Order: sequence, then C-alpha cells, then structure tokens
Amino acid sequence: MPERMTRRRMLGAGGVLGVAMLGAGALPTLRAAGEFPWPYKRMEPVEAAERAYEAIFQAGSCMFAAFDGVLGLLAAKFGEPYSTFPNAMMSYGGGGIAGWGTVCGALNGASAAVALFVAGQDRTAILDDLFNYYVGTELPTFRPAAPKNEVVVKLARAKSPLCHASIANSGLEMGSTELWERCARLSAEISMRTVENLNAWLEGKFVARAGMMEETAYCLRCHGLDGKGPIQIGKMDCLGCHEDHTQGYQLTYK
Ligand code: HEC
Ligand code: HEC
Repeated sequence: MPERMTRRRMLGAGGVLGVAMLGAGALPTLRAAGEFPWPYKRMEPVEAAERAYEAIFQAGSCMFAAFDGVLGLLAAKFGEPYSTFPNAMMSYGGGGIAGWGTVCGALNGASAAVALFVAGQDRTAILDDLFNYYVGTELPTFRPAAPKNEVVVKLARAKSPLCHASIANSGLEMGSTELWERCARLSAEISMRTVENLNAWLEGKFVARAGMMEETAYCLRCHGLDGKGPIQIGKMDCLGCHEDHTQGYQLTYK
C-alpha cells in the first residue's frame, strides 16, 4: 500500500511537471504520464507461450493472449511496473479488432508488447521478423504441454497478417475446434517468438530470422517505396488481393 501511494504521488508530481513545462512553452512529453520505454527483463520463451495459450482460453481474445504471454509473465515474475499495465484492454483486438478481420490479434498484441520496450528502427526490425514469420511459415508448430483439445492442427502458411485471410488460408472451418486450437497455438507461438526476439535484443544480438515472402519481395521491387512503379505502402502479400500483371507479357524495363 505505501508503495502504491508513493507511486501515485510520483505520477502526480509528473503531472504537475508537465503543466509547468506547458506553461514554459514546451510540449508535454510522455514521461509526464509515465516512463517510456519500459525496461525489459529476460524470460523463458516457452513460459510465455504456455501463459498465452492458457490466457486465450480464459479471455477468448488472441490479442490479449499474445500480449499477456509477455506482460503477464513479466508481472508475475517481477511485479511493478509490469503489474500496473491493464492487460485486459488488449481484448479489443480479438478477431482482427472487434471482429473486423483486420490485423491478427496475435500480431497486434505481440506488437504492443514489443512497443512498450523498444522504439524506432529496432522495433520495426523486431516486428518485421514477427510478421514475416507469421505470414511465411507453416504454423503453428508450438505444442502446449497440456493441449486443451486433442486435435491434429493442420499446418499452413497464413500468407496474410489479416485475421480474415489468415483464417481462410488455414483451411479450417470458422467455429471449428481445430480453428480455435490453431489460433490458440499460433498466439502462443507468436508470444514465444516475441520473447525470443526481446531476449536477443536485450543482449544487443537481435537478428531477424524470418525474411519477406519471395512473391511479396518480387512485387515490391517496383512498388516498394524506392521502386519504379506506382509506389504504395505495405509489406503484405500482394497476390491475396491483386493479380500478377507481370505474367504473360514482356516488360520493357527491369
Ligand atoms: C517490373 C516492375 C513491376 C513489377 C515487378 C510489378 N509491377 Fe505492378 N506495376 C508496375 C507499373 C510500372 C505499374 C503502372 C503501369 C501499369 O499499369 O502497367 C504497375 C501497376 C500495378 C497495379 C495498378 C494497376 C492498375 O490497373 O491501376 C497493381 C495493382 C500492381 N501493379 C500490382 C502488382 C503486383 C501484385 C505485383 C507482383 C505480383 C506487381 N505489381 C509487380 C510495375 C511492376
Ligand atoms: C488486403 C488487400 C490488399 C493487399 C494485400 C494489397 N493491396 Fe494493393 N490495393 C488494394 C486495394 C483495395 C486497392 C485500391 C484500388 C483497388 O481496388 O484496386 C489497392 C491499390 C493498389 C495499387 C494502385 C494504386 C493506385 O494509385 O491506383 C497498387 C499499385 C497496389 N495496390 C499494389 C499493391 C502491392 C504491390 C501489394 C503488395 C505489396 C498490394 N497492393 C497489396 C488491396 C490490397
């Protein structure tokens, strides 16, 4: 209790400082509300996976699960500040955000967890690895110690970070136990890789292990931000939504 009081008082002081800075014509900084980024501490990746796997069955949200695998584990092991984060807010991302089928909640939750600790280009590099691994690898390969459902989970490339396309490409039926189990293990696996990446980053040894899918890299040669064609934003697999217009006729440029 005294610790909490102290913490509140400190936060209060930060707030006052923020106002004082505003008065002096400076912009308020995030530090006024709390330290950022938070310090990361090394953990066992498989523990994160097991925790995320359990969490999805409790909360029903892949985003919550992937986030809680990291932050919940940190809180359980080290207490504050990790225990002060309201992990439950991460439930919004289930089903690709409120069921919209946009970004997969496992990726969204893992990304949020990474973003608490890492900023700038390092963050982008870690997230690129997570996304490329997710879209381009036959998953899920993680097998929990005590599976909730004894089903054979078919491996498949999601090809897309979008919940909608990822589920379609899994080849599993909406509402089936197999799909539920697949999403649970996938969330666990992404949580695990997040911790692997953060551990490596902490030691200054992070190297991306997953690269972009070849078919995507092919289109981005021309459509990437430094390409010759009409440039566009994104690193997603183009062929999920577009035809390959380079097939069937000779291009006049390389
Ligand atoms: C060698 C360069 C090159 C490659 C590789 C390439 N494109 Fe293009 N793309 C272009 C250029 C240049 C245009 C604009 C001119 C045109 O419409 O042909 C274009 C246009 C497009 C358009 C807009 C078409 C429209 O009708 O407005 C889409 C969509 C597109 N490309 C998708 C892709 C996809 C998907 C791939 C990978 C399978 C790809 N491109 C690979 C050069 C390329
Ligand atoms: C989730 C679906 C989706 C994915 C994935 C996607 N696109 Fe698109 N793209 C669209 C939509 C929707 C438009 C809007 C125009 C249209 O309907 O064709 C568009 C438009 C474009 C255009 C035309 C822009 C213009 O100014 O007319 C290009 C070029 C293009 N996309 C290239 C790509 C490339 C290259 C990739 C892969 C790196 C890609 N897209 C991935 C959905 C997608």
